Amino acid sequence: MKVAVLGAAGGIGQALALLLKLDLPANSELSLYDVAPVTPGVAKDLSHIPTSVKVTGFGGADVAPALEGADVVLISAGVARKPGMDRSDLFNINAGIIKSLVGVVAKVAPEACIGVITNPVNTTVAIAAEVLKDAGVYNKNKLFGITTLDVIRAEEFIADKKGLKAEDLKVNVIGGHSGTTILPLLSQVQNVDFTEQEVIDLTDRIQNAGTEVVNAKAGGGSATLSMARAAALFGVNLVHALSGKQGIVQNAYVEGGNAISPFFTQPLLLGLNGVERVLPVGDLSPFEEQKQKEMLDVLHSDIQLGIDFVKNS
Ligand SMILES: NC(=O)c1ccc[n+]([C@@H]2O[C@H](COP(=O)([O-])OP(=O)(O)OC[C@H]3O[C@@H](n4cnc5c(N)ncnc54)[C@H](O)[C@@H]3O)[C@@H](O)[C@H]2O)c1
Repeated sequence: MKVAVLGAAGGIGQALALLLKLDLPANSELSLYDVAPVTPGVAKDLSHIPTSVKVTGFGGADVAPALEGADVVLISAGVARKPGMDRSDLFNINAGIIKSLVGVVAKVAPEACIGVITNPVNTTVAIAAEVLKDAGVYNKNKLFGITTLDVIRAEEFIADKKGLKAEDLKVNVIGGHSGTTILPLLSQVQNVDFTEQEVIDLTDRIQNAGTEVVNAKAGGGSATLSMARAAALFGVNLVHALSGKQGIVQNAYVEGGNAISPFFTQPLLLGLNGVERVLPVGDLSPFEEQKQKEMLDVLHSDIQLGIDFVKNS
């Protein structure tokens, strides 16, 4: 399997590339691309780590050579948040970057699974879908917004609050990937009881965890290392599923499978062709039902923004 990382010289991209070099199955290929001219050097640096994953790097204006033969394309190209910005402030720059990169993926690797990390994910995934549709190669089972960071944060924050091990927890986080559209279903966490106040506090912390990092980095960027871990988990699981491993379930933001929103983060059974089946989100508590209702206007308008961006540009 060949995995391409676009935005590979950035904070997320470099850490993600390192984790993929370590964790991809033996004899996988890793292709790194970024407009930054340092990118072949990042690949050279990684190539000195003794694993059987072969790394190549491409810098400059043309992404096409990096995409030749790619089975999975992970995109973190773009700009990240600074204090005071929310994810939608990134829209203008990142929308154009996603549109142009996905346009080339559509031509060079039309069969590839695409995982979008670049924010605002609620909108950039809708943009990618429109670009792929215009190119006649859209397959909703192969386009994902990567929301794994919300899952690992939820697991870690619950473990921290309740004195448990994060590895023992599984949290189903649904909705989208910004503020109130991130909805952790704490009522479904096995063998853990929460007070009403704990549910309110944990939900709020998980929804605003990205801002915690942005503020703590004081203008130096947003979550990179935890995001790289999250994207590597998702990417490696996807590669295993595409290679025939059965029973792999990951949450991600995809089109279809949920009547309340055209795109929705939900549990997915992954298989040889991407999404094999969208799994039910399960039962929601009255608190979660209410939060789900409240997020829909934002989610729908984020999606529409992406559709309109492609139609009008
Ligand atoms: N999905 C998530 O959970 C999540 C979490 C954190 C950050 N993010 C998002 O990921 C993105 C990247 O964050 P980062 O911290 O790595 O930023 P960064 O600024 O460190 O890196 C971005 C990289 O993208 C490159 N780039 C810009 N335009 C490009 C293009 N047209 N083609 C290829 N590369 C290009 C830049 O040169 C840079 O190396 C941001 O949009 C950020 O908001 C998503």
